[in-house]
Amino acid sequence: MLNKRCWTLTTRQLCDCEMILDGSFYPLTHFMNESDYYQVLKNMRLETGQLFPIPIVLDVNEEFSKNLELNEQIILQDKEGFTIANMTVESIWKPNFKMEAQKLYKTTDKLHPAVNFLSYSSNKVYLGGKIEEVMMPNHYDYEKYRLGPKDVKNKFKKMGWEKIIAFQTRNPLHKAHVEMTFRSMKKFNANLLIHPVVGQTKAGDIDHHTRIRCYEHVIKKYPKNTAFLALLPLSMRMGGPREALLHAIIRKNYGCTHIIIGRDHAGPGLDSYGEPFYEPYEAQELVKQFETEIGIQMIKFQFMVFVPKYKEYRALESLHPDTKYEIISGTDLRKRLDKNEALPEWFSYPEVSLELKKLRPPLYLQGFTVFFTGLSGSGKSTLANGLLIKLIEEGSRKVTLLDGDIVRTHLSSELSFSKEHRSLNIQRIGFVASEITKNGGIAICAPIAPYEYDREINRELISKFGGYIEIFVNTSLQKCEERDSKGLYKLARDGKIKQFTGISDPYEAPKSPDILINSDGSKSPTILVNEIFQNLCSIGYIKS
Ligand code: PPS
Repeated sequence: MLNKRCWTLTTRQLCDCEMILDGSFYPLTHFMNESDYYQVLKNMRLETGQLFPIPIVLDVNEEFSKNLELNEQIILQDKEGFTIANMTVESIWKPNFKMEAQKLYKTTDKLHPAVNFLSYSSNKVYLGGKIEEVMMPNHYDYEKYRLGPKDVKNKFKKMGWEKIIAFQTRNPLHKAHVEMTFRSMKKFNANLLIHPVVGQTKAGDIDHHTRIRCYEHVIKKYPKNTAFLALLPLSMRMGGPREALLHAIIRKNYGCTHIIIGRDHAGPGLDSYGEPFYEPYEAQELVKQFETEIGIQMIKFQFMVFVPKYKEYRALESLHPDTKYEIISGTDLRKRLDKNEALPEWFSYPEVSLELKKLRPPLYLQGFTVFFTGLSGSGKSTLANGLLIKLIEEGSRKVTLLDGDIVRTHLSSELSFSKEHRSLNIQRIGFVASEITKNGGIAICAPIAPYEYDREINRELISKFGGYIEIFVNTSLQKCEERDSKGLYKLARDGKIKQFTGISDPYEAPKSPDILINSDGSKSPTILVNEIFQNLCSIGYIKS
């Protein structure tokens, strides 16, 4: 017999697999086949007619799907090689991503995270079919809270809970959320399931470890034995109304009788025109339409704001237009933490504030990367070395220099100067810098980095963990050639070095660098290094 093909599940697929196997996605009990998929896109129903709003398919690459036959058995394994399930392939097709995006999310704008996933991350071939559990995915963290639908229902039964409100969240809980849930519990004489998503959420969200520590603090604020915490390994699509419907179906499976649906529930943020993708209460309207069919009652929540005059939270819509109120958005929160400002008592509990402060220390304690870019001979290395010494002298963090030549010797010695290899080189530098930044250090990078795309990939990666400052050393080609300290320009002009940046290879100058340096010789390196250092002080990375 031929060996079975083995597919290594992506993070999203592992979450989907777990949710199919443990019954969280019921009535879905398999990876959708082609006819389910088209029905779901068209009218949010499986082939059986049962309601299900979002396609859950196994996307694989063309190489894997080549010569794959219907009814063939494949093995689904996790990244460590543990077999999670066996799958019988019942359907193989190539989806049209644009059509999928338009039907599901009503947009093809790539700023929508789910559309972006389809455009850049999804594999091109979809497989559908039954899966049989071999071993549920391993979780090393928070085992006591990792409870599937059966476990949670059993807990409810043991506790004698009959009316249960589900609270879906991907954020830490603050006082507004507690207020919201308290009021619902009182109104419906019900208990509460705090049910945070710990699979994939929106890029930039607070990690689930920090959030769980916050939930553990907050759950103590509820009267004893009225609220329960369990984790949901869902991989969110940030799909707005359709996703809200999925959240309701899932919570029904966990034995909940009610679900809180807030303003802009599972909202994907703003589109390319700076407009929200969905109306603020569109998700509520969709869930309302189907609540009887699902068998769960929606509790609508409006946007809650703190009103100092009444010293309490009220729904924004209920306020007189002249009433003064306070809110702290995610961006405001990050700014306050960066500046080491105290969080107001009306906003959060001190224990939660402390967890957030630990996660995001003030800027002068966060790790950061200084990324020099410019032509060969522009002066990047000189400035990078000068800054290295200055930052070591300042002494707040450990500093690492990833100069172009150092990297080419120790990290990328096998790489050429082709476009592809330059990208690889820059992204390797980005990876190392992101690790240094994540662990609170300073990385100074000084490669040529001629392509905007690679620089942006690095910016995105590193910004998740700390600061990122791009410095464009803008020295003219003429000046670099005059200097020609390594004699390389001469060789390039003579055709002895191919693909030389500025001569026979492109350099895409940064359009909006964080710092622009003219290193044409009119200012000494000492002065320029001091300018950069002062800049870092004024941004807040160095305590002056
Ligand atoms: S890249 O594009 O960012 O990967 O280049 P980088 O790794 O920074 O280049 C390091 C040094 O290699 C020398 N060198 C070349 N540069 C550009 N093009 C070609 N073809 C080339 N061949 C060798 C060059 O001196 C770079 O060093 P710096 O420090 O920039 O002068």
